[in-house]
Parts: sequence; structure tokens; C-alpha cells
Amino acid sequence: MKFFIDTANLAQIKEAHDLGVLDGVTTNPSLMAKEGITGEANVINHYKAICDIVDGDVSAEVIATDYENIIKEGEALAALDSKIVVKVPMIKDGIKAIRYFSNKGIKTNCTLVFSSGQALLAAKAGATYVSPFIGRLDDISVDGLGLIEEIRLIYDNYDFPTQILAASVRHTAHLLGCAEIGADVMTGPLSVILALLKHPLTDSGLAQFLADHAKAAGK
Ligand code: E4P
Repeated sequence: MKFFIDTANLAQIKEAHDLGVLDGVTTNPSLMAKEGITGEANVINHYKAICDIVDGDVSAEVIATDYENIIKEGEALAALDSKIVVKVPMIKDGIKAIRYFSNKGIKTNCTLVFSSGQALLAAKAGATYVSPFIGRLDDISVDGLGLIEEIRLIYDNYDFPTQILAASVRHTAHLLGCAEIGADVMTGPLSVILALLKHPLTDSGLAQFLADHAKAAGK
């Protein structure tokens, strides 16, 4: 399972990268705004800075919602770095654009996916990744992990190469549920990745080992 970090914060991206477990980054316009990144030149420079840190794919989302401008914006983003994946919303013009990018060999991430029908369409259009937002579904009392299961089944039935990128991951139960189901990728905040480290028996066990060592050494 690949681990992507869902942020535009360079320090957090670097921390996850330095941990040695990071496979890529996803961003979105809200995450860019949260870091105060505005204006075309700053946005472009920020994507370049992210690409300089990570070794894997970096999703950069288009703002345009009509076919011609999605293509224009997506091609410009893809030209920045071979790591860039053009993130396109699940709308009619977005699906057309994903087909165009796919034919051109440009990687895509179909975002804002909330149903298996949408995921099937994204795969048919040739998306590299599909992003079902499991946390936002849970927020409205719909089973987010259930959607990952449905998509896994459909993609496996037909050997679709589109990778399931479980998004809007909020906690370790989401992450582990995705791992059990077989999502190809999960994207979440750094805190979710770091939370995997934690177990009270690890903490108490380590404290005991260190105390016993100090005692034996006569400290
Ligand atoms: C996916 O690529 C999105 O950036 C993201 O996972 C959305 O998560 P949120 O629901 O926590 O905003």
C-alpha cells in the first residue's frame, strides 16, 4: 500500500519523507489556500518545491471546470515535473479531459468521487488514480470504507489499472480498513501516519527495558 500525505505544508511533507515511508503527495485548492499560496507564480513554485522533496507522485488540482481550460491548465501543470499528476474533478468535462490526458500519457487523479458509478466512469476514462473521499462520506453517515470495497470489487472484476487512492482519511481505523480491503494508496494527514507508531505497550515496554538497563549498569 502506498502512503501519500494530504497537505501542501512543506515541513510536514519533509517530515513524512524523512521518515522513509512516503510515496507521494496530494494537494487541493483548500490545502494550498491554508498555506497562504495564492497567485499563479506562487502556486507553480510551490508545486516545484513539493516535487523537489518527494520521490513519488504529486497531485496538483486544476481550478478550471470546462474542458478547454482543464486541458490548458493540466498540460501546464504536467510540464512542471514528471512527478505531477493532474487532479481533475469528477464532472462531465473532467471525464473528457481525463480521457484526453490518458491518451497523451499524462497521469491523472480523478477527485471528489463519492460513488462506485463515478469510480467506474473514471476508470473507463483511463484515470491513473481515483480518489473516493471516505471521511466526507462518514461525515454524512455513509460507509466510506464500504465504498472502497465496492470499487475494489468492480476494478478487480475487469482488471482496471486505475489505482484506488483512498482520500479524506481521518484516522488509523480508516487507513487500516483501506489496507485490509486492498486500496492501492491512502492519502491522509501526517498525524494519521505518525499515529501508526503508537501503542501503550510499546511505550511501557521501552520504559521498562531502559530502566532495567540503567539498573543493571548501576546508574
Ligand atoms: C484528496 O485528495 C483530498 O485532498 C482530501 O483527502 C480531502 O480530505 P478532507 O475531507 O479531509 O478535506
